[in-house]
Amino acid sequence: MKAPADSPAVARWRADTPGCERRIHLNNAGASLVPRPVREAVDAHLDLEDKLGGYEAMEHCAGALREAAEDVSRLLGAARRNIAFTQNSTAAFAQALGVFDFAPGDVILTSRADYASNQIMYLSLARRRGVRVVRAPDLAQGGVDPDAVRGLIRQQQPKLVAVTWVPTNSGLVQDVAAVGEACRSAAVPYLVDACQAVGQIPIDVGAIGCDYLAATSRKFLRGPRGVGFLYASDRVLAAGAHPLLVDMHGADWLDPDRFELTPDARRFELWEISSALVLGVGAAARYALGVGIETARDRARALAAYARVRLAELAGVRVLDRGADLCAIVTIEPAGRPAAEIKLILRARGINTSSPVREDAVIDMDEKHAASALRISPHYYNTAAEIDAAVGTLREVLRR
Ligand SMILES: Cc1ncc(COP(=O)(O)O)c(C=O)c1O
Repeated sequence: MKAPADSPAVARWRADTPGCERRIHLNNAGASLVPRPVREAVDAHLDLEDKLGGYEAMEHCAGALREAAEDVSRLLGAARRNIAFTQNSTAAFAQALGVFDFAPGDVILTSRADYASNQIMYLSLARRRGVRVVRAPDLAQGGVDPDAVRGLIRQQQPKLVAVTWVPTNSGLVQDVAAVGEACRSAAVPYLVDACQAVGQIPIDVGAIGCDYLAATSRKFLRGPRGVGFLYASDRVLAAGAHPLLVDMHGADWLDPDRFELTPDARRFELWEISSALVLGVGAAARYALGVGIETARDRARALAAYARVRLAELAGVRVLDRGADLCAIVTIEPAGRPAAEIKLILRARGINTSSPVREDAVIDMDEKHAASALRISPHYYNTAAEIDAAVGTLREVLRR
């Protein structure tokens, strides 16, 4: 397979990413290297807090904070009123789950590839509220079967359908738009985990047909750690949906026994959040839109496809990714060696990867008979030469 060539834009993206000079960073599904404008936005605000005080700096930056929210909303094809900032993707997902007054016997319909924390939250609701967790079967090639979802919606009448777009431990991309169509035609609320999708896959919440979409800043979006966001549709906002526990930012306390919800998606936020990080994720959204999400997707996928082919050539390596549509996450099982050990050896040689374990995705990992996996997740600013270097080092390590 021919290695993806480096266009002049690649040199620009790398010049914007000082971390590239120090390491081969192939852990963008963990936390990406941030481009310079993101770092500058965060640093500048911390400087301002130092100068003015935290609350005073926030008020001073009200316009920039609004712009940050607008830029994040553009990334999703949404409006500012539909965006809430949270601490991370899990917190956003939990806020959306908190909307529903689950009663014993209520069904959450989900996929076998849903993220571990989401699966644990469904199981916690099963334990505390008597919810039934139903997982739709997969297509033969992998990924949730939208027709099966349609059938299960008819049969089980779920209170909520929740699907992870891209799971954490493989290159699989689930067809969230087809599932959305099934949800919309049956008017069932639909929650999407877009944590690994945002920044590497173009998102149009209208086309997906979701009511809620949770995501994080630090992965393929290349924003800072410690901030995420939730999209809530106009439909659910107008219906008065709100998380179980709302604070004084999500609502006004009007009388001793009465509160009124904030009209927009900010009812899903908590008052205290880092302005520096919100400005950072806003800068990341602007940067991503400047690169172009289609451009980012095409190059990251081409690098990942190249990595899959090169890794499959190594003796004792099994590529674990399945699915008709594979993204920029590559997972392999290095035979006979725990992936965590290989990850640390590579790290010592300046190459960043990660090593999901069985508990990160028990259904998928058990099905693949894999105890652990080495995850290699390039992004558009990586190069084929970096993939070659990582594969070469891995070959040497596996030979020992
Ligand atoms: C698919 C998926 N969903 C959710 C999360 C959780 O994101 P956060 O740590 O921002 O809560 C992750 C993290 O790896 C993930 O891969």
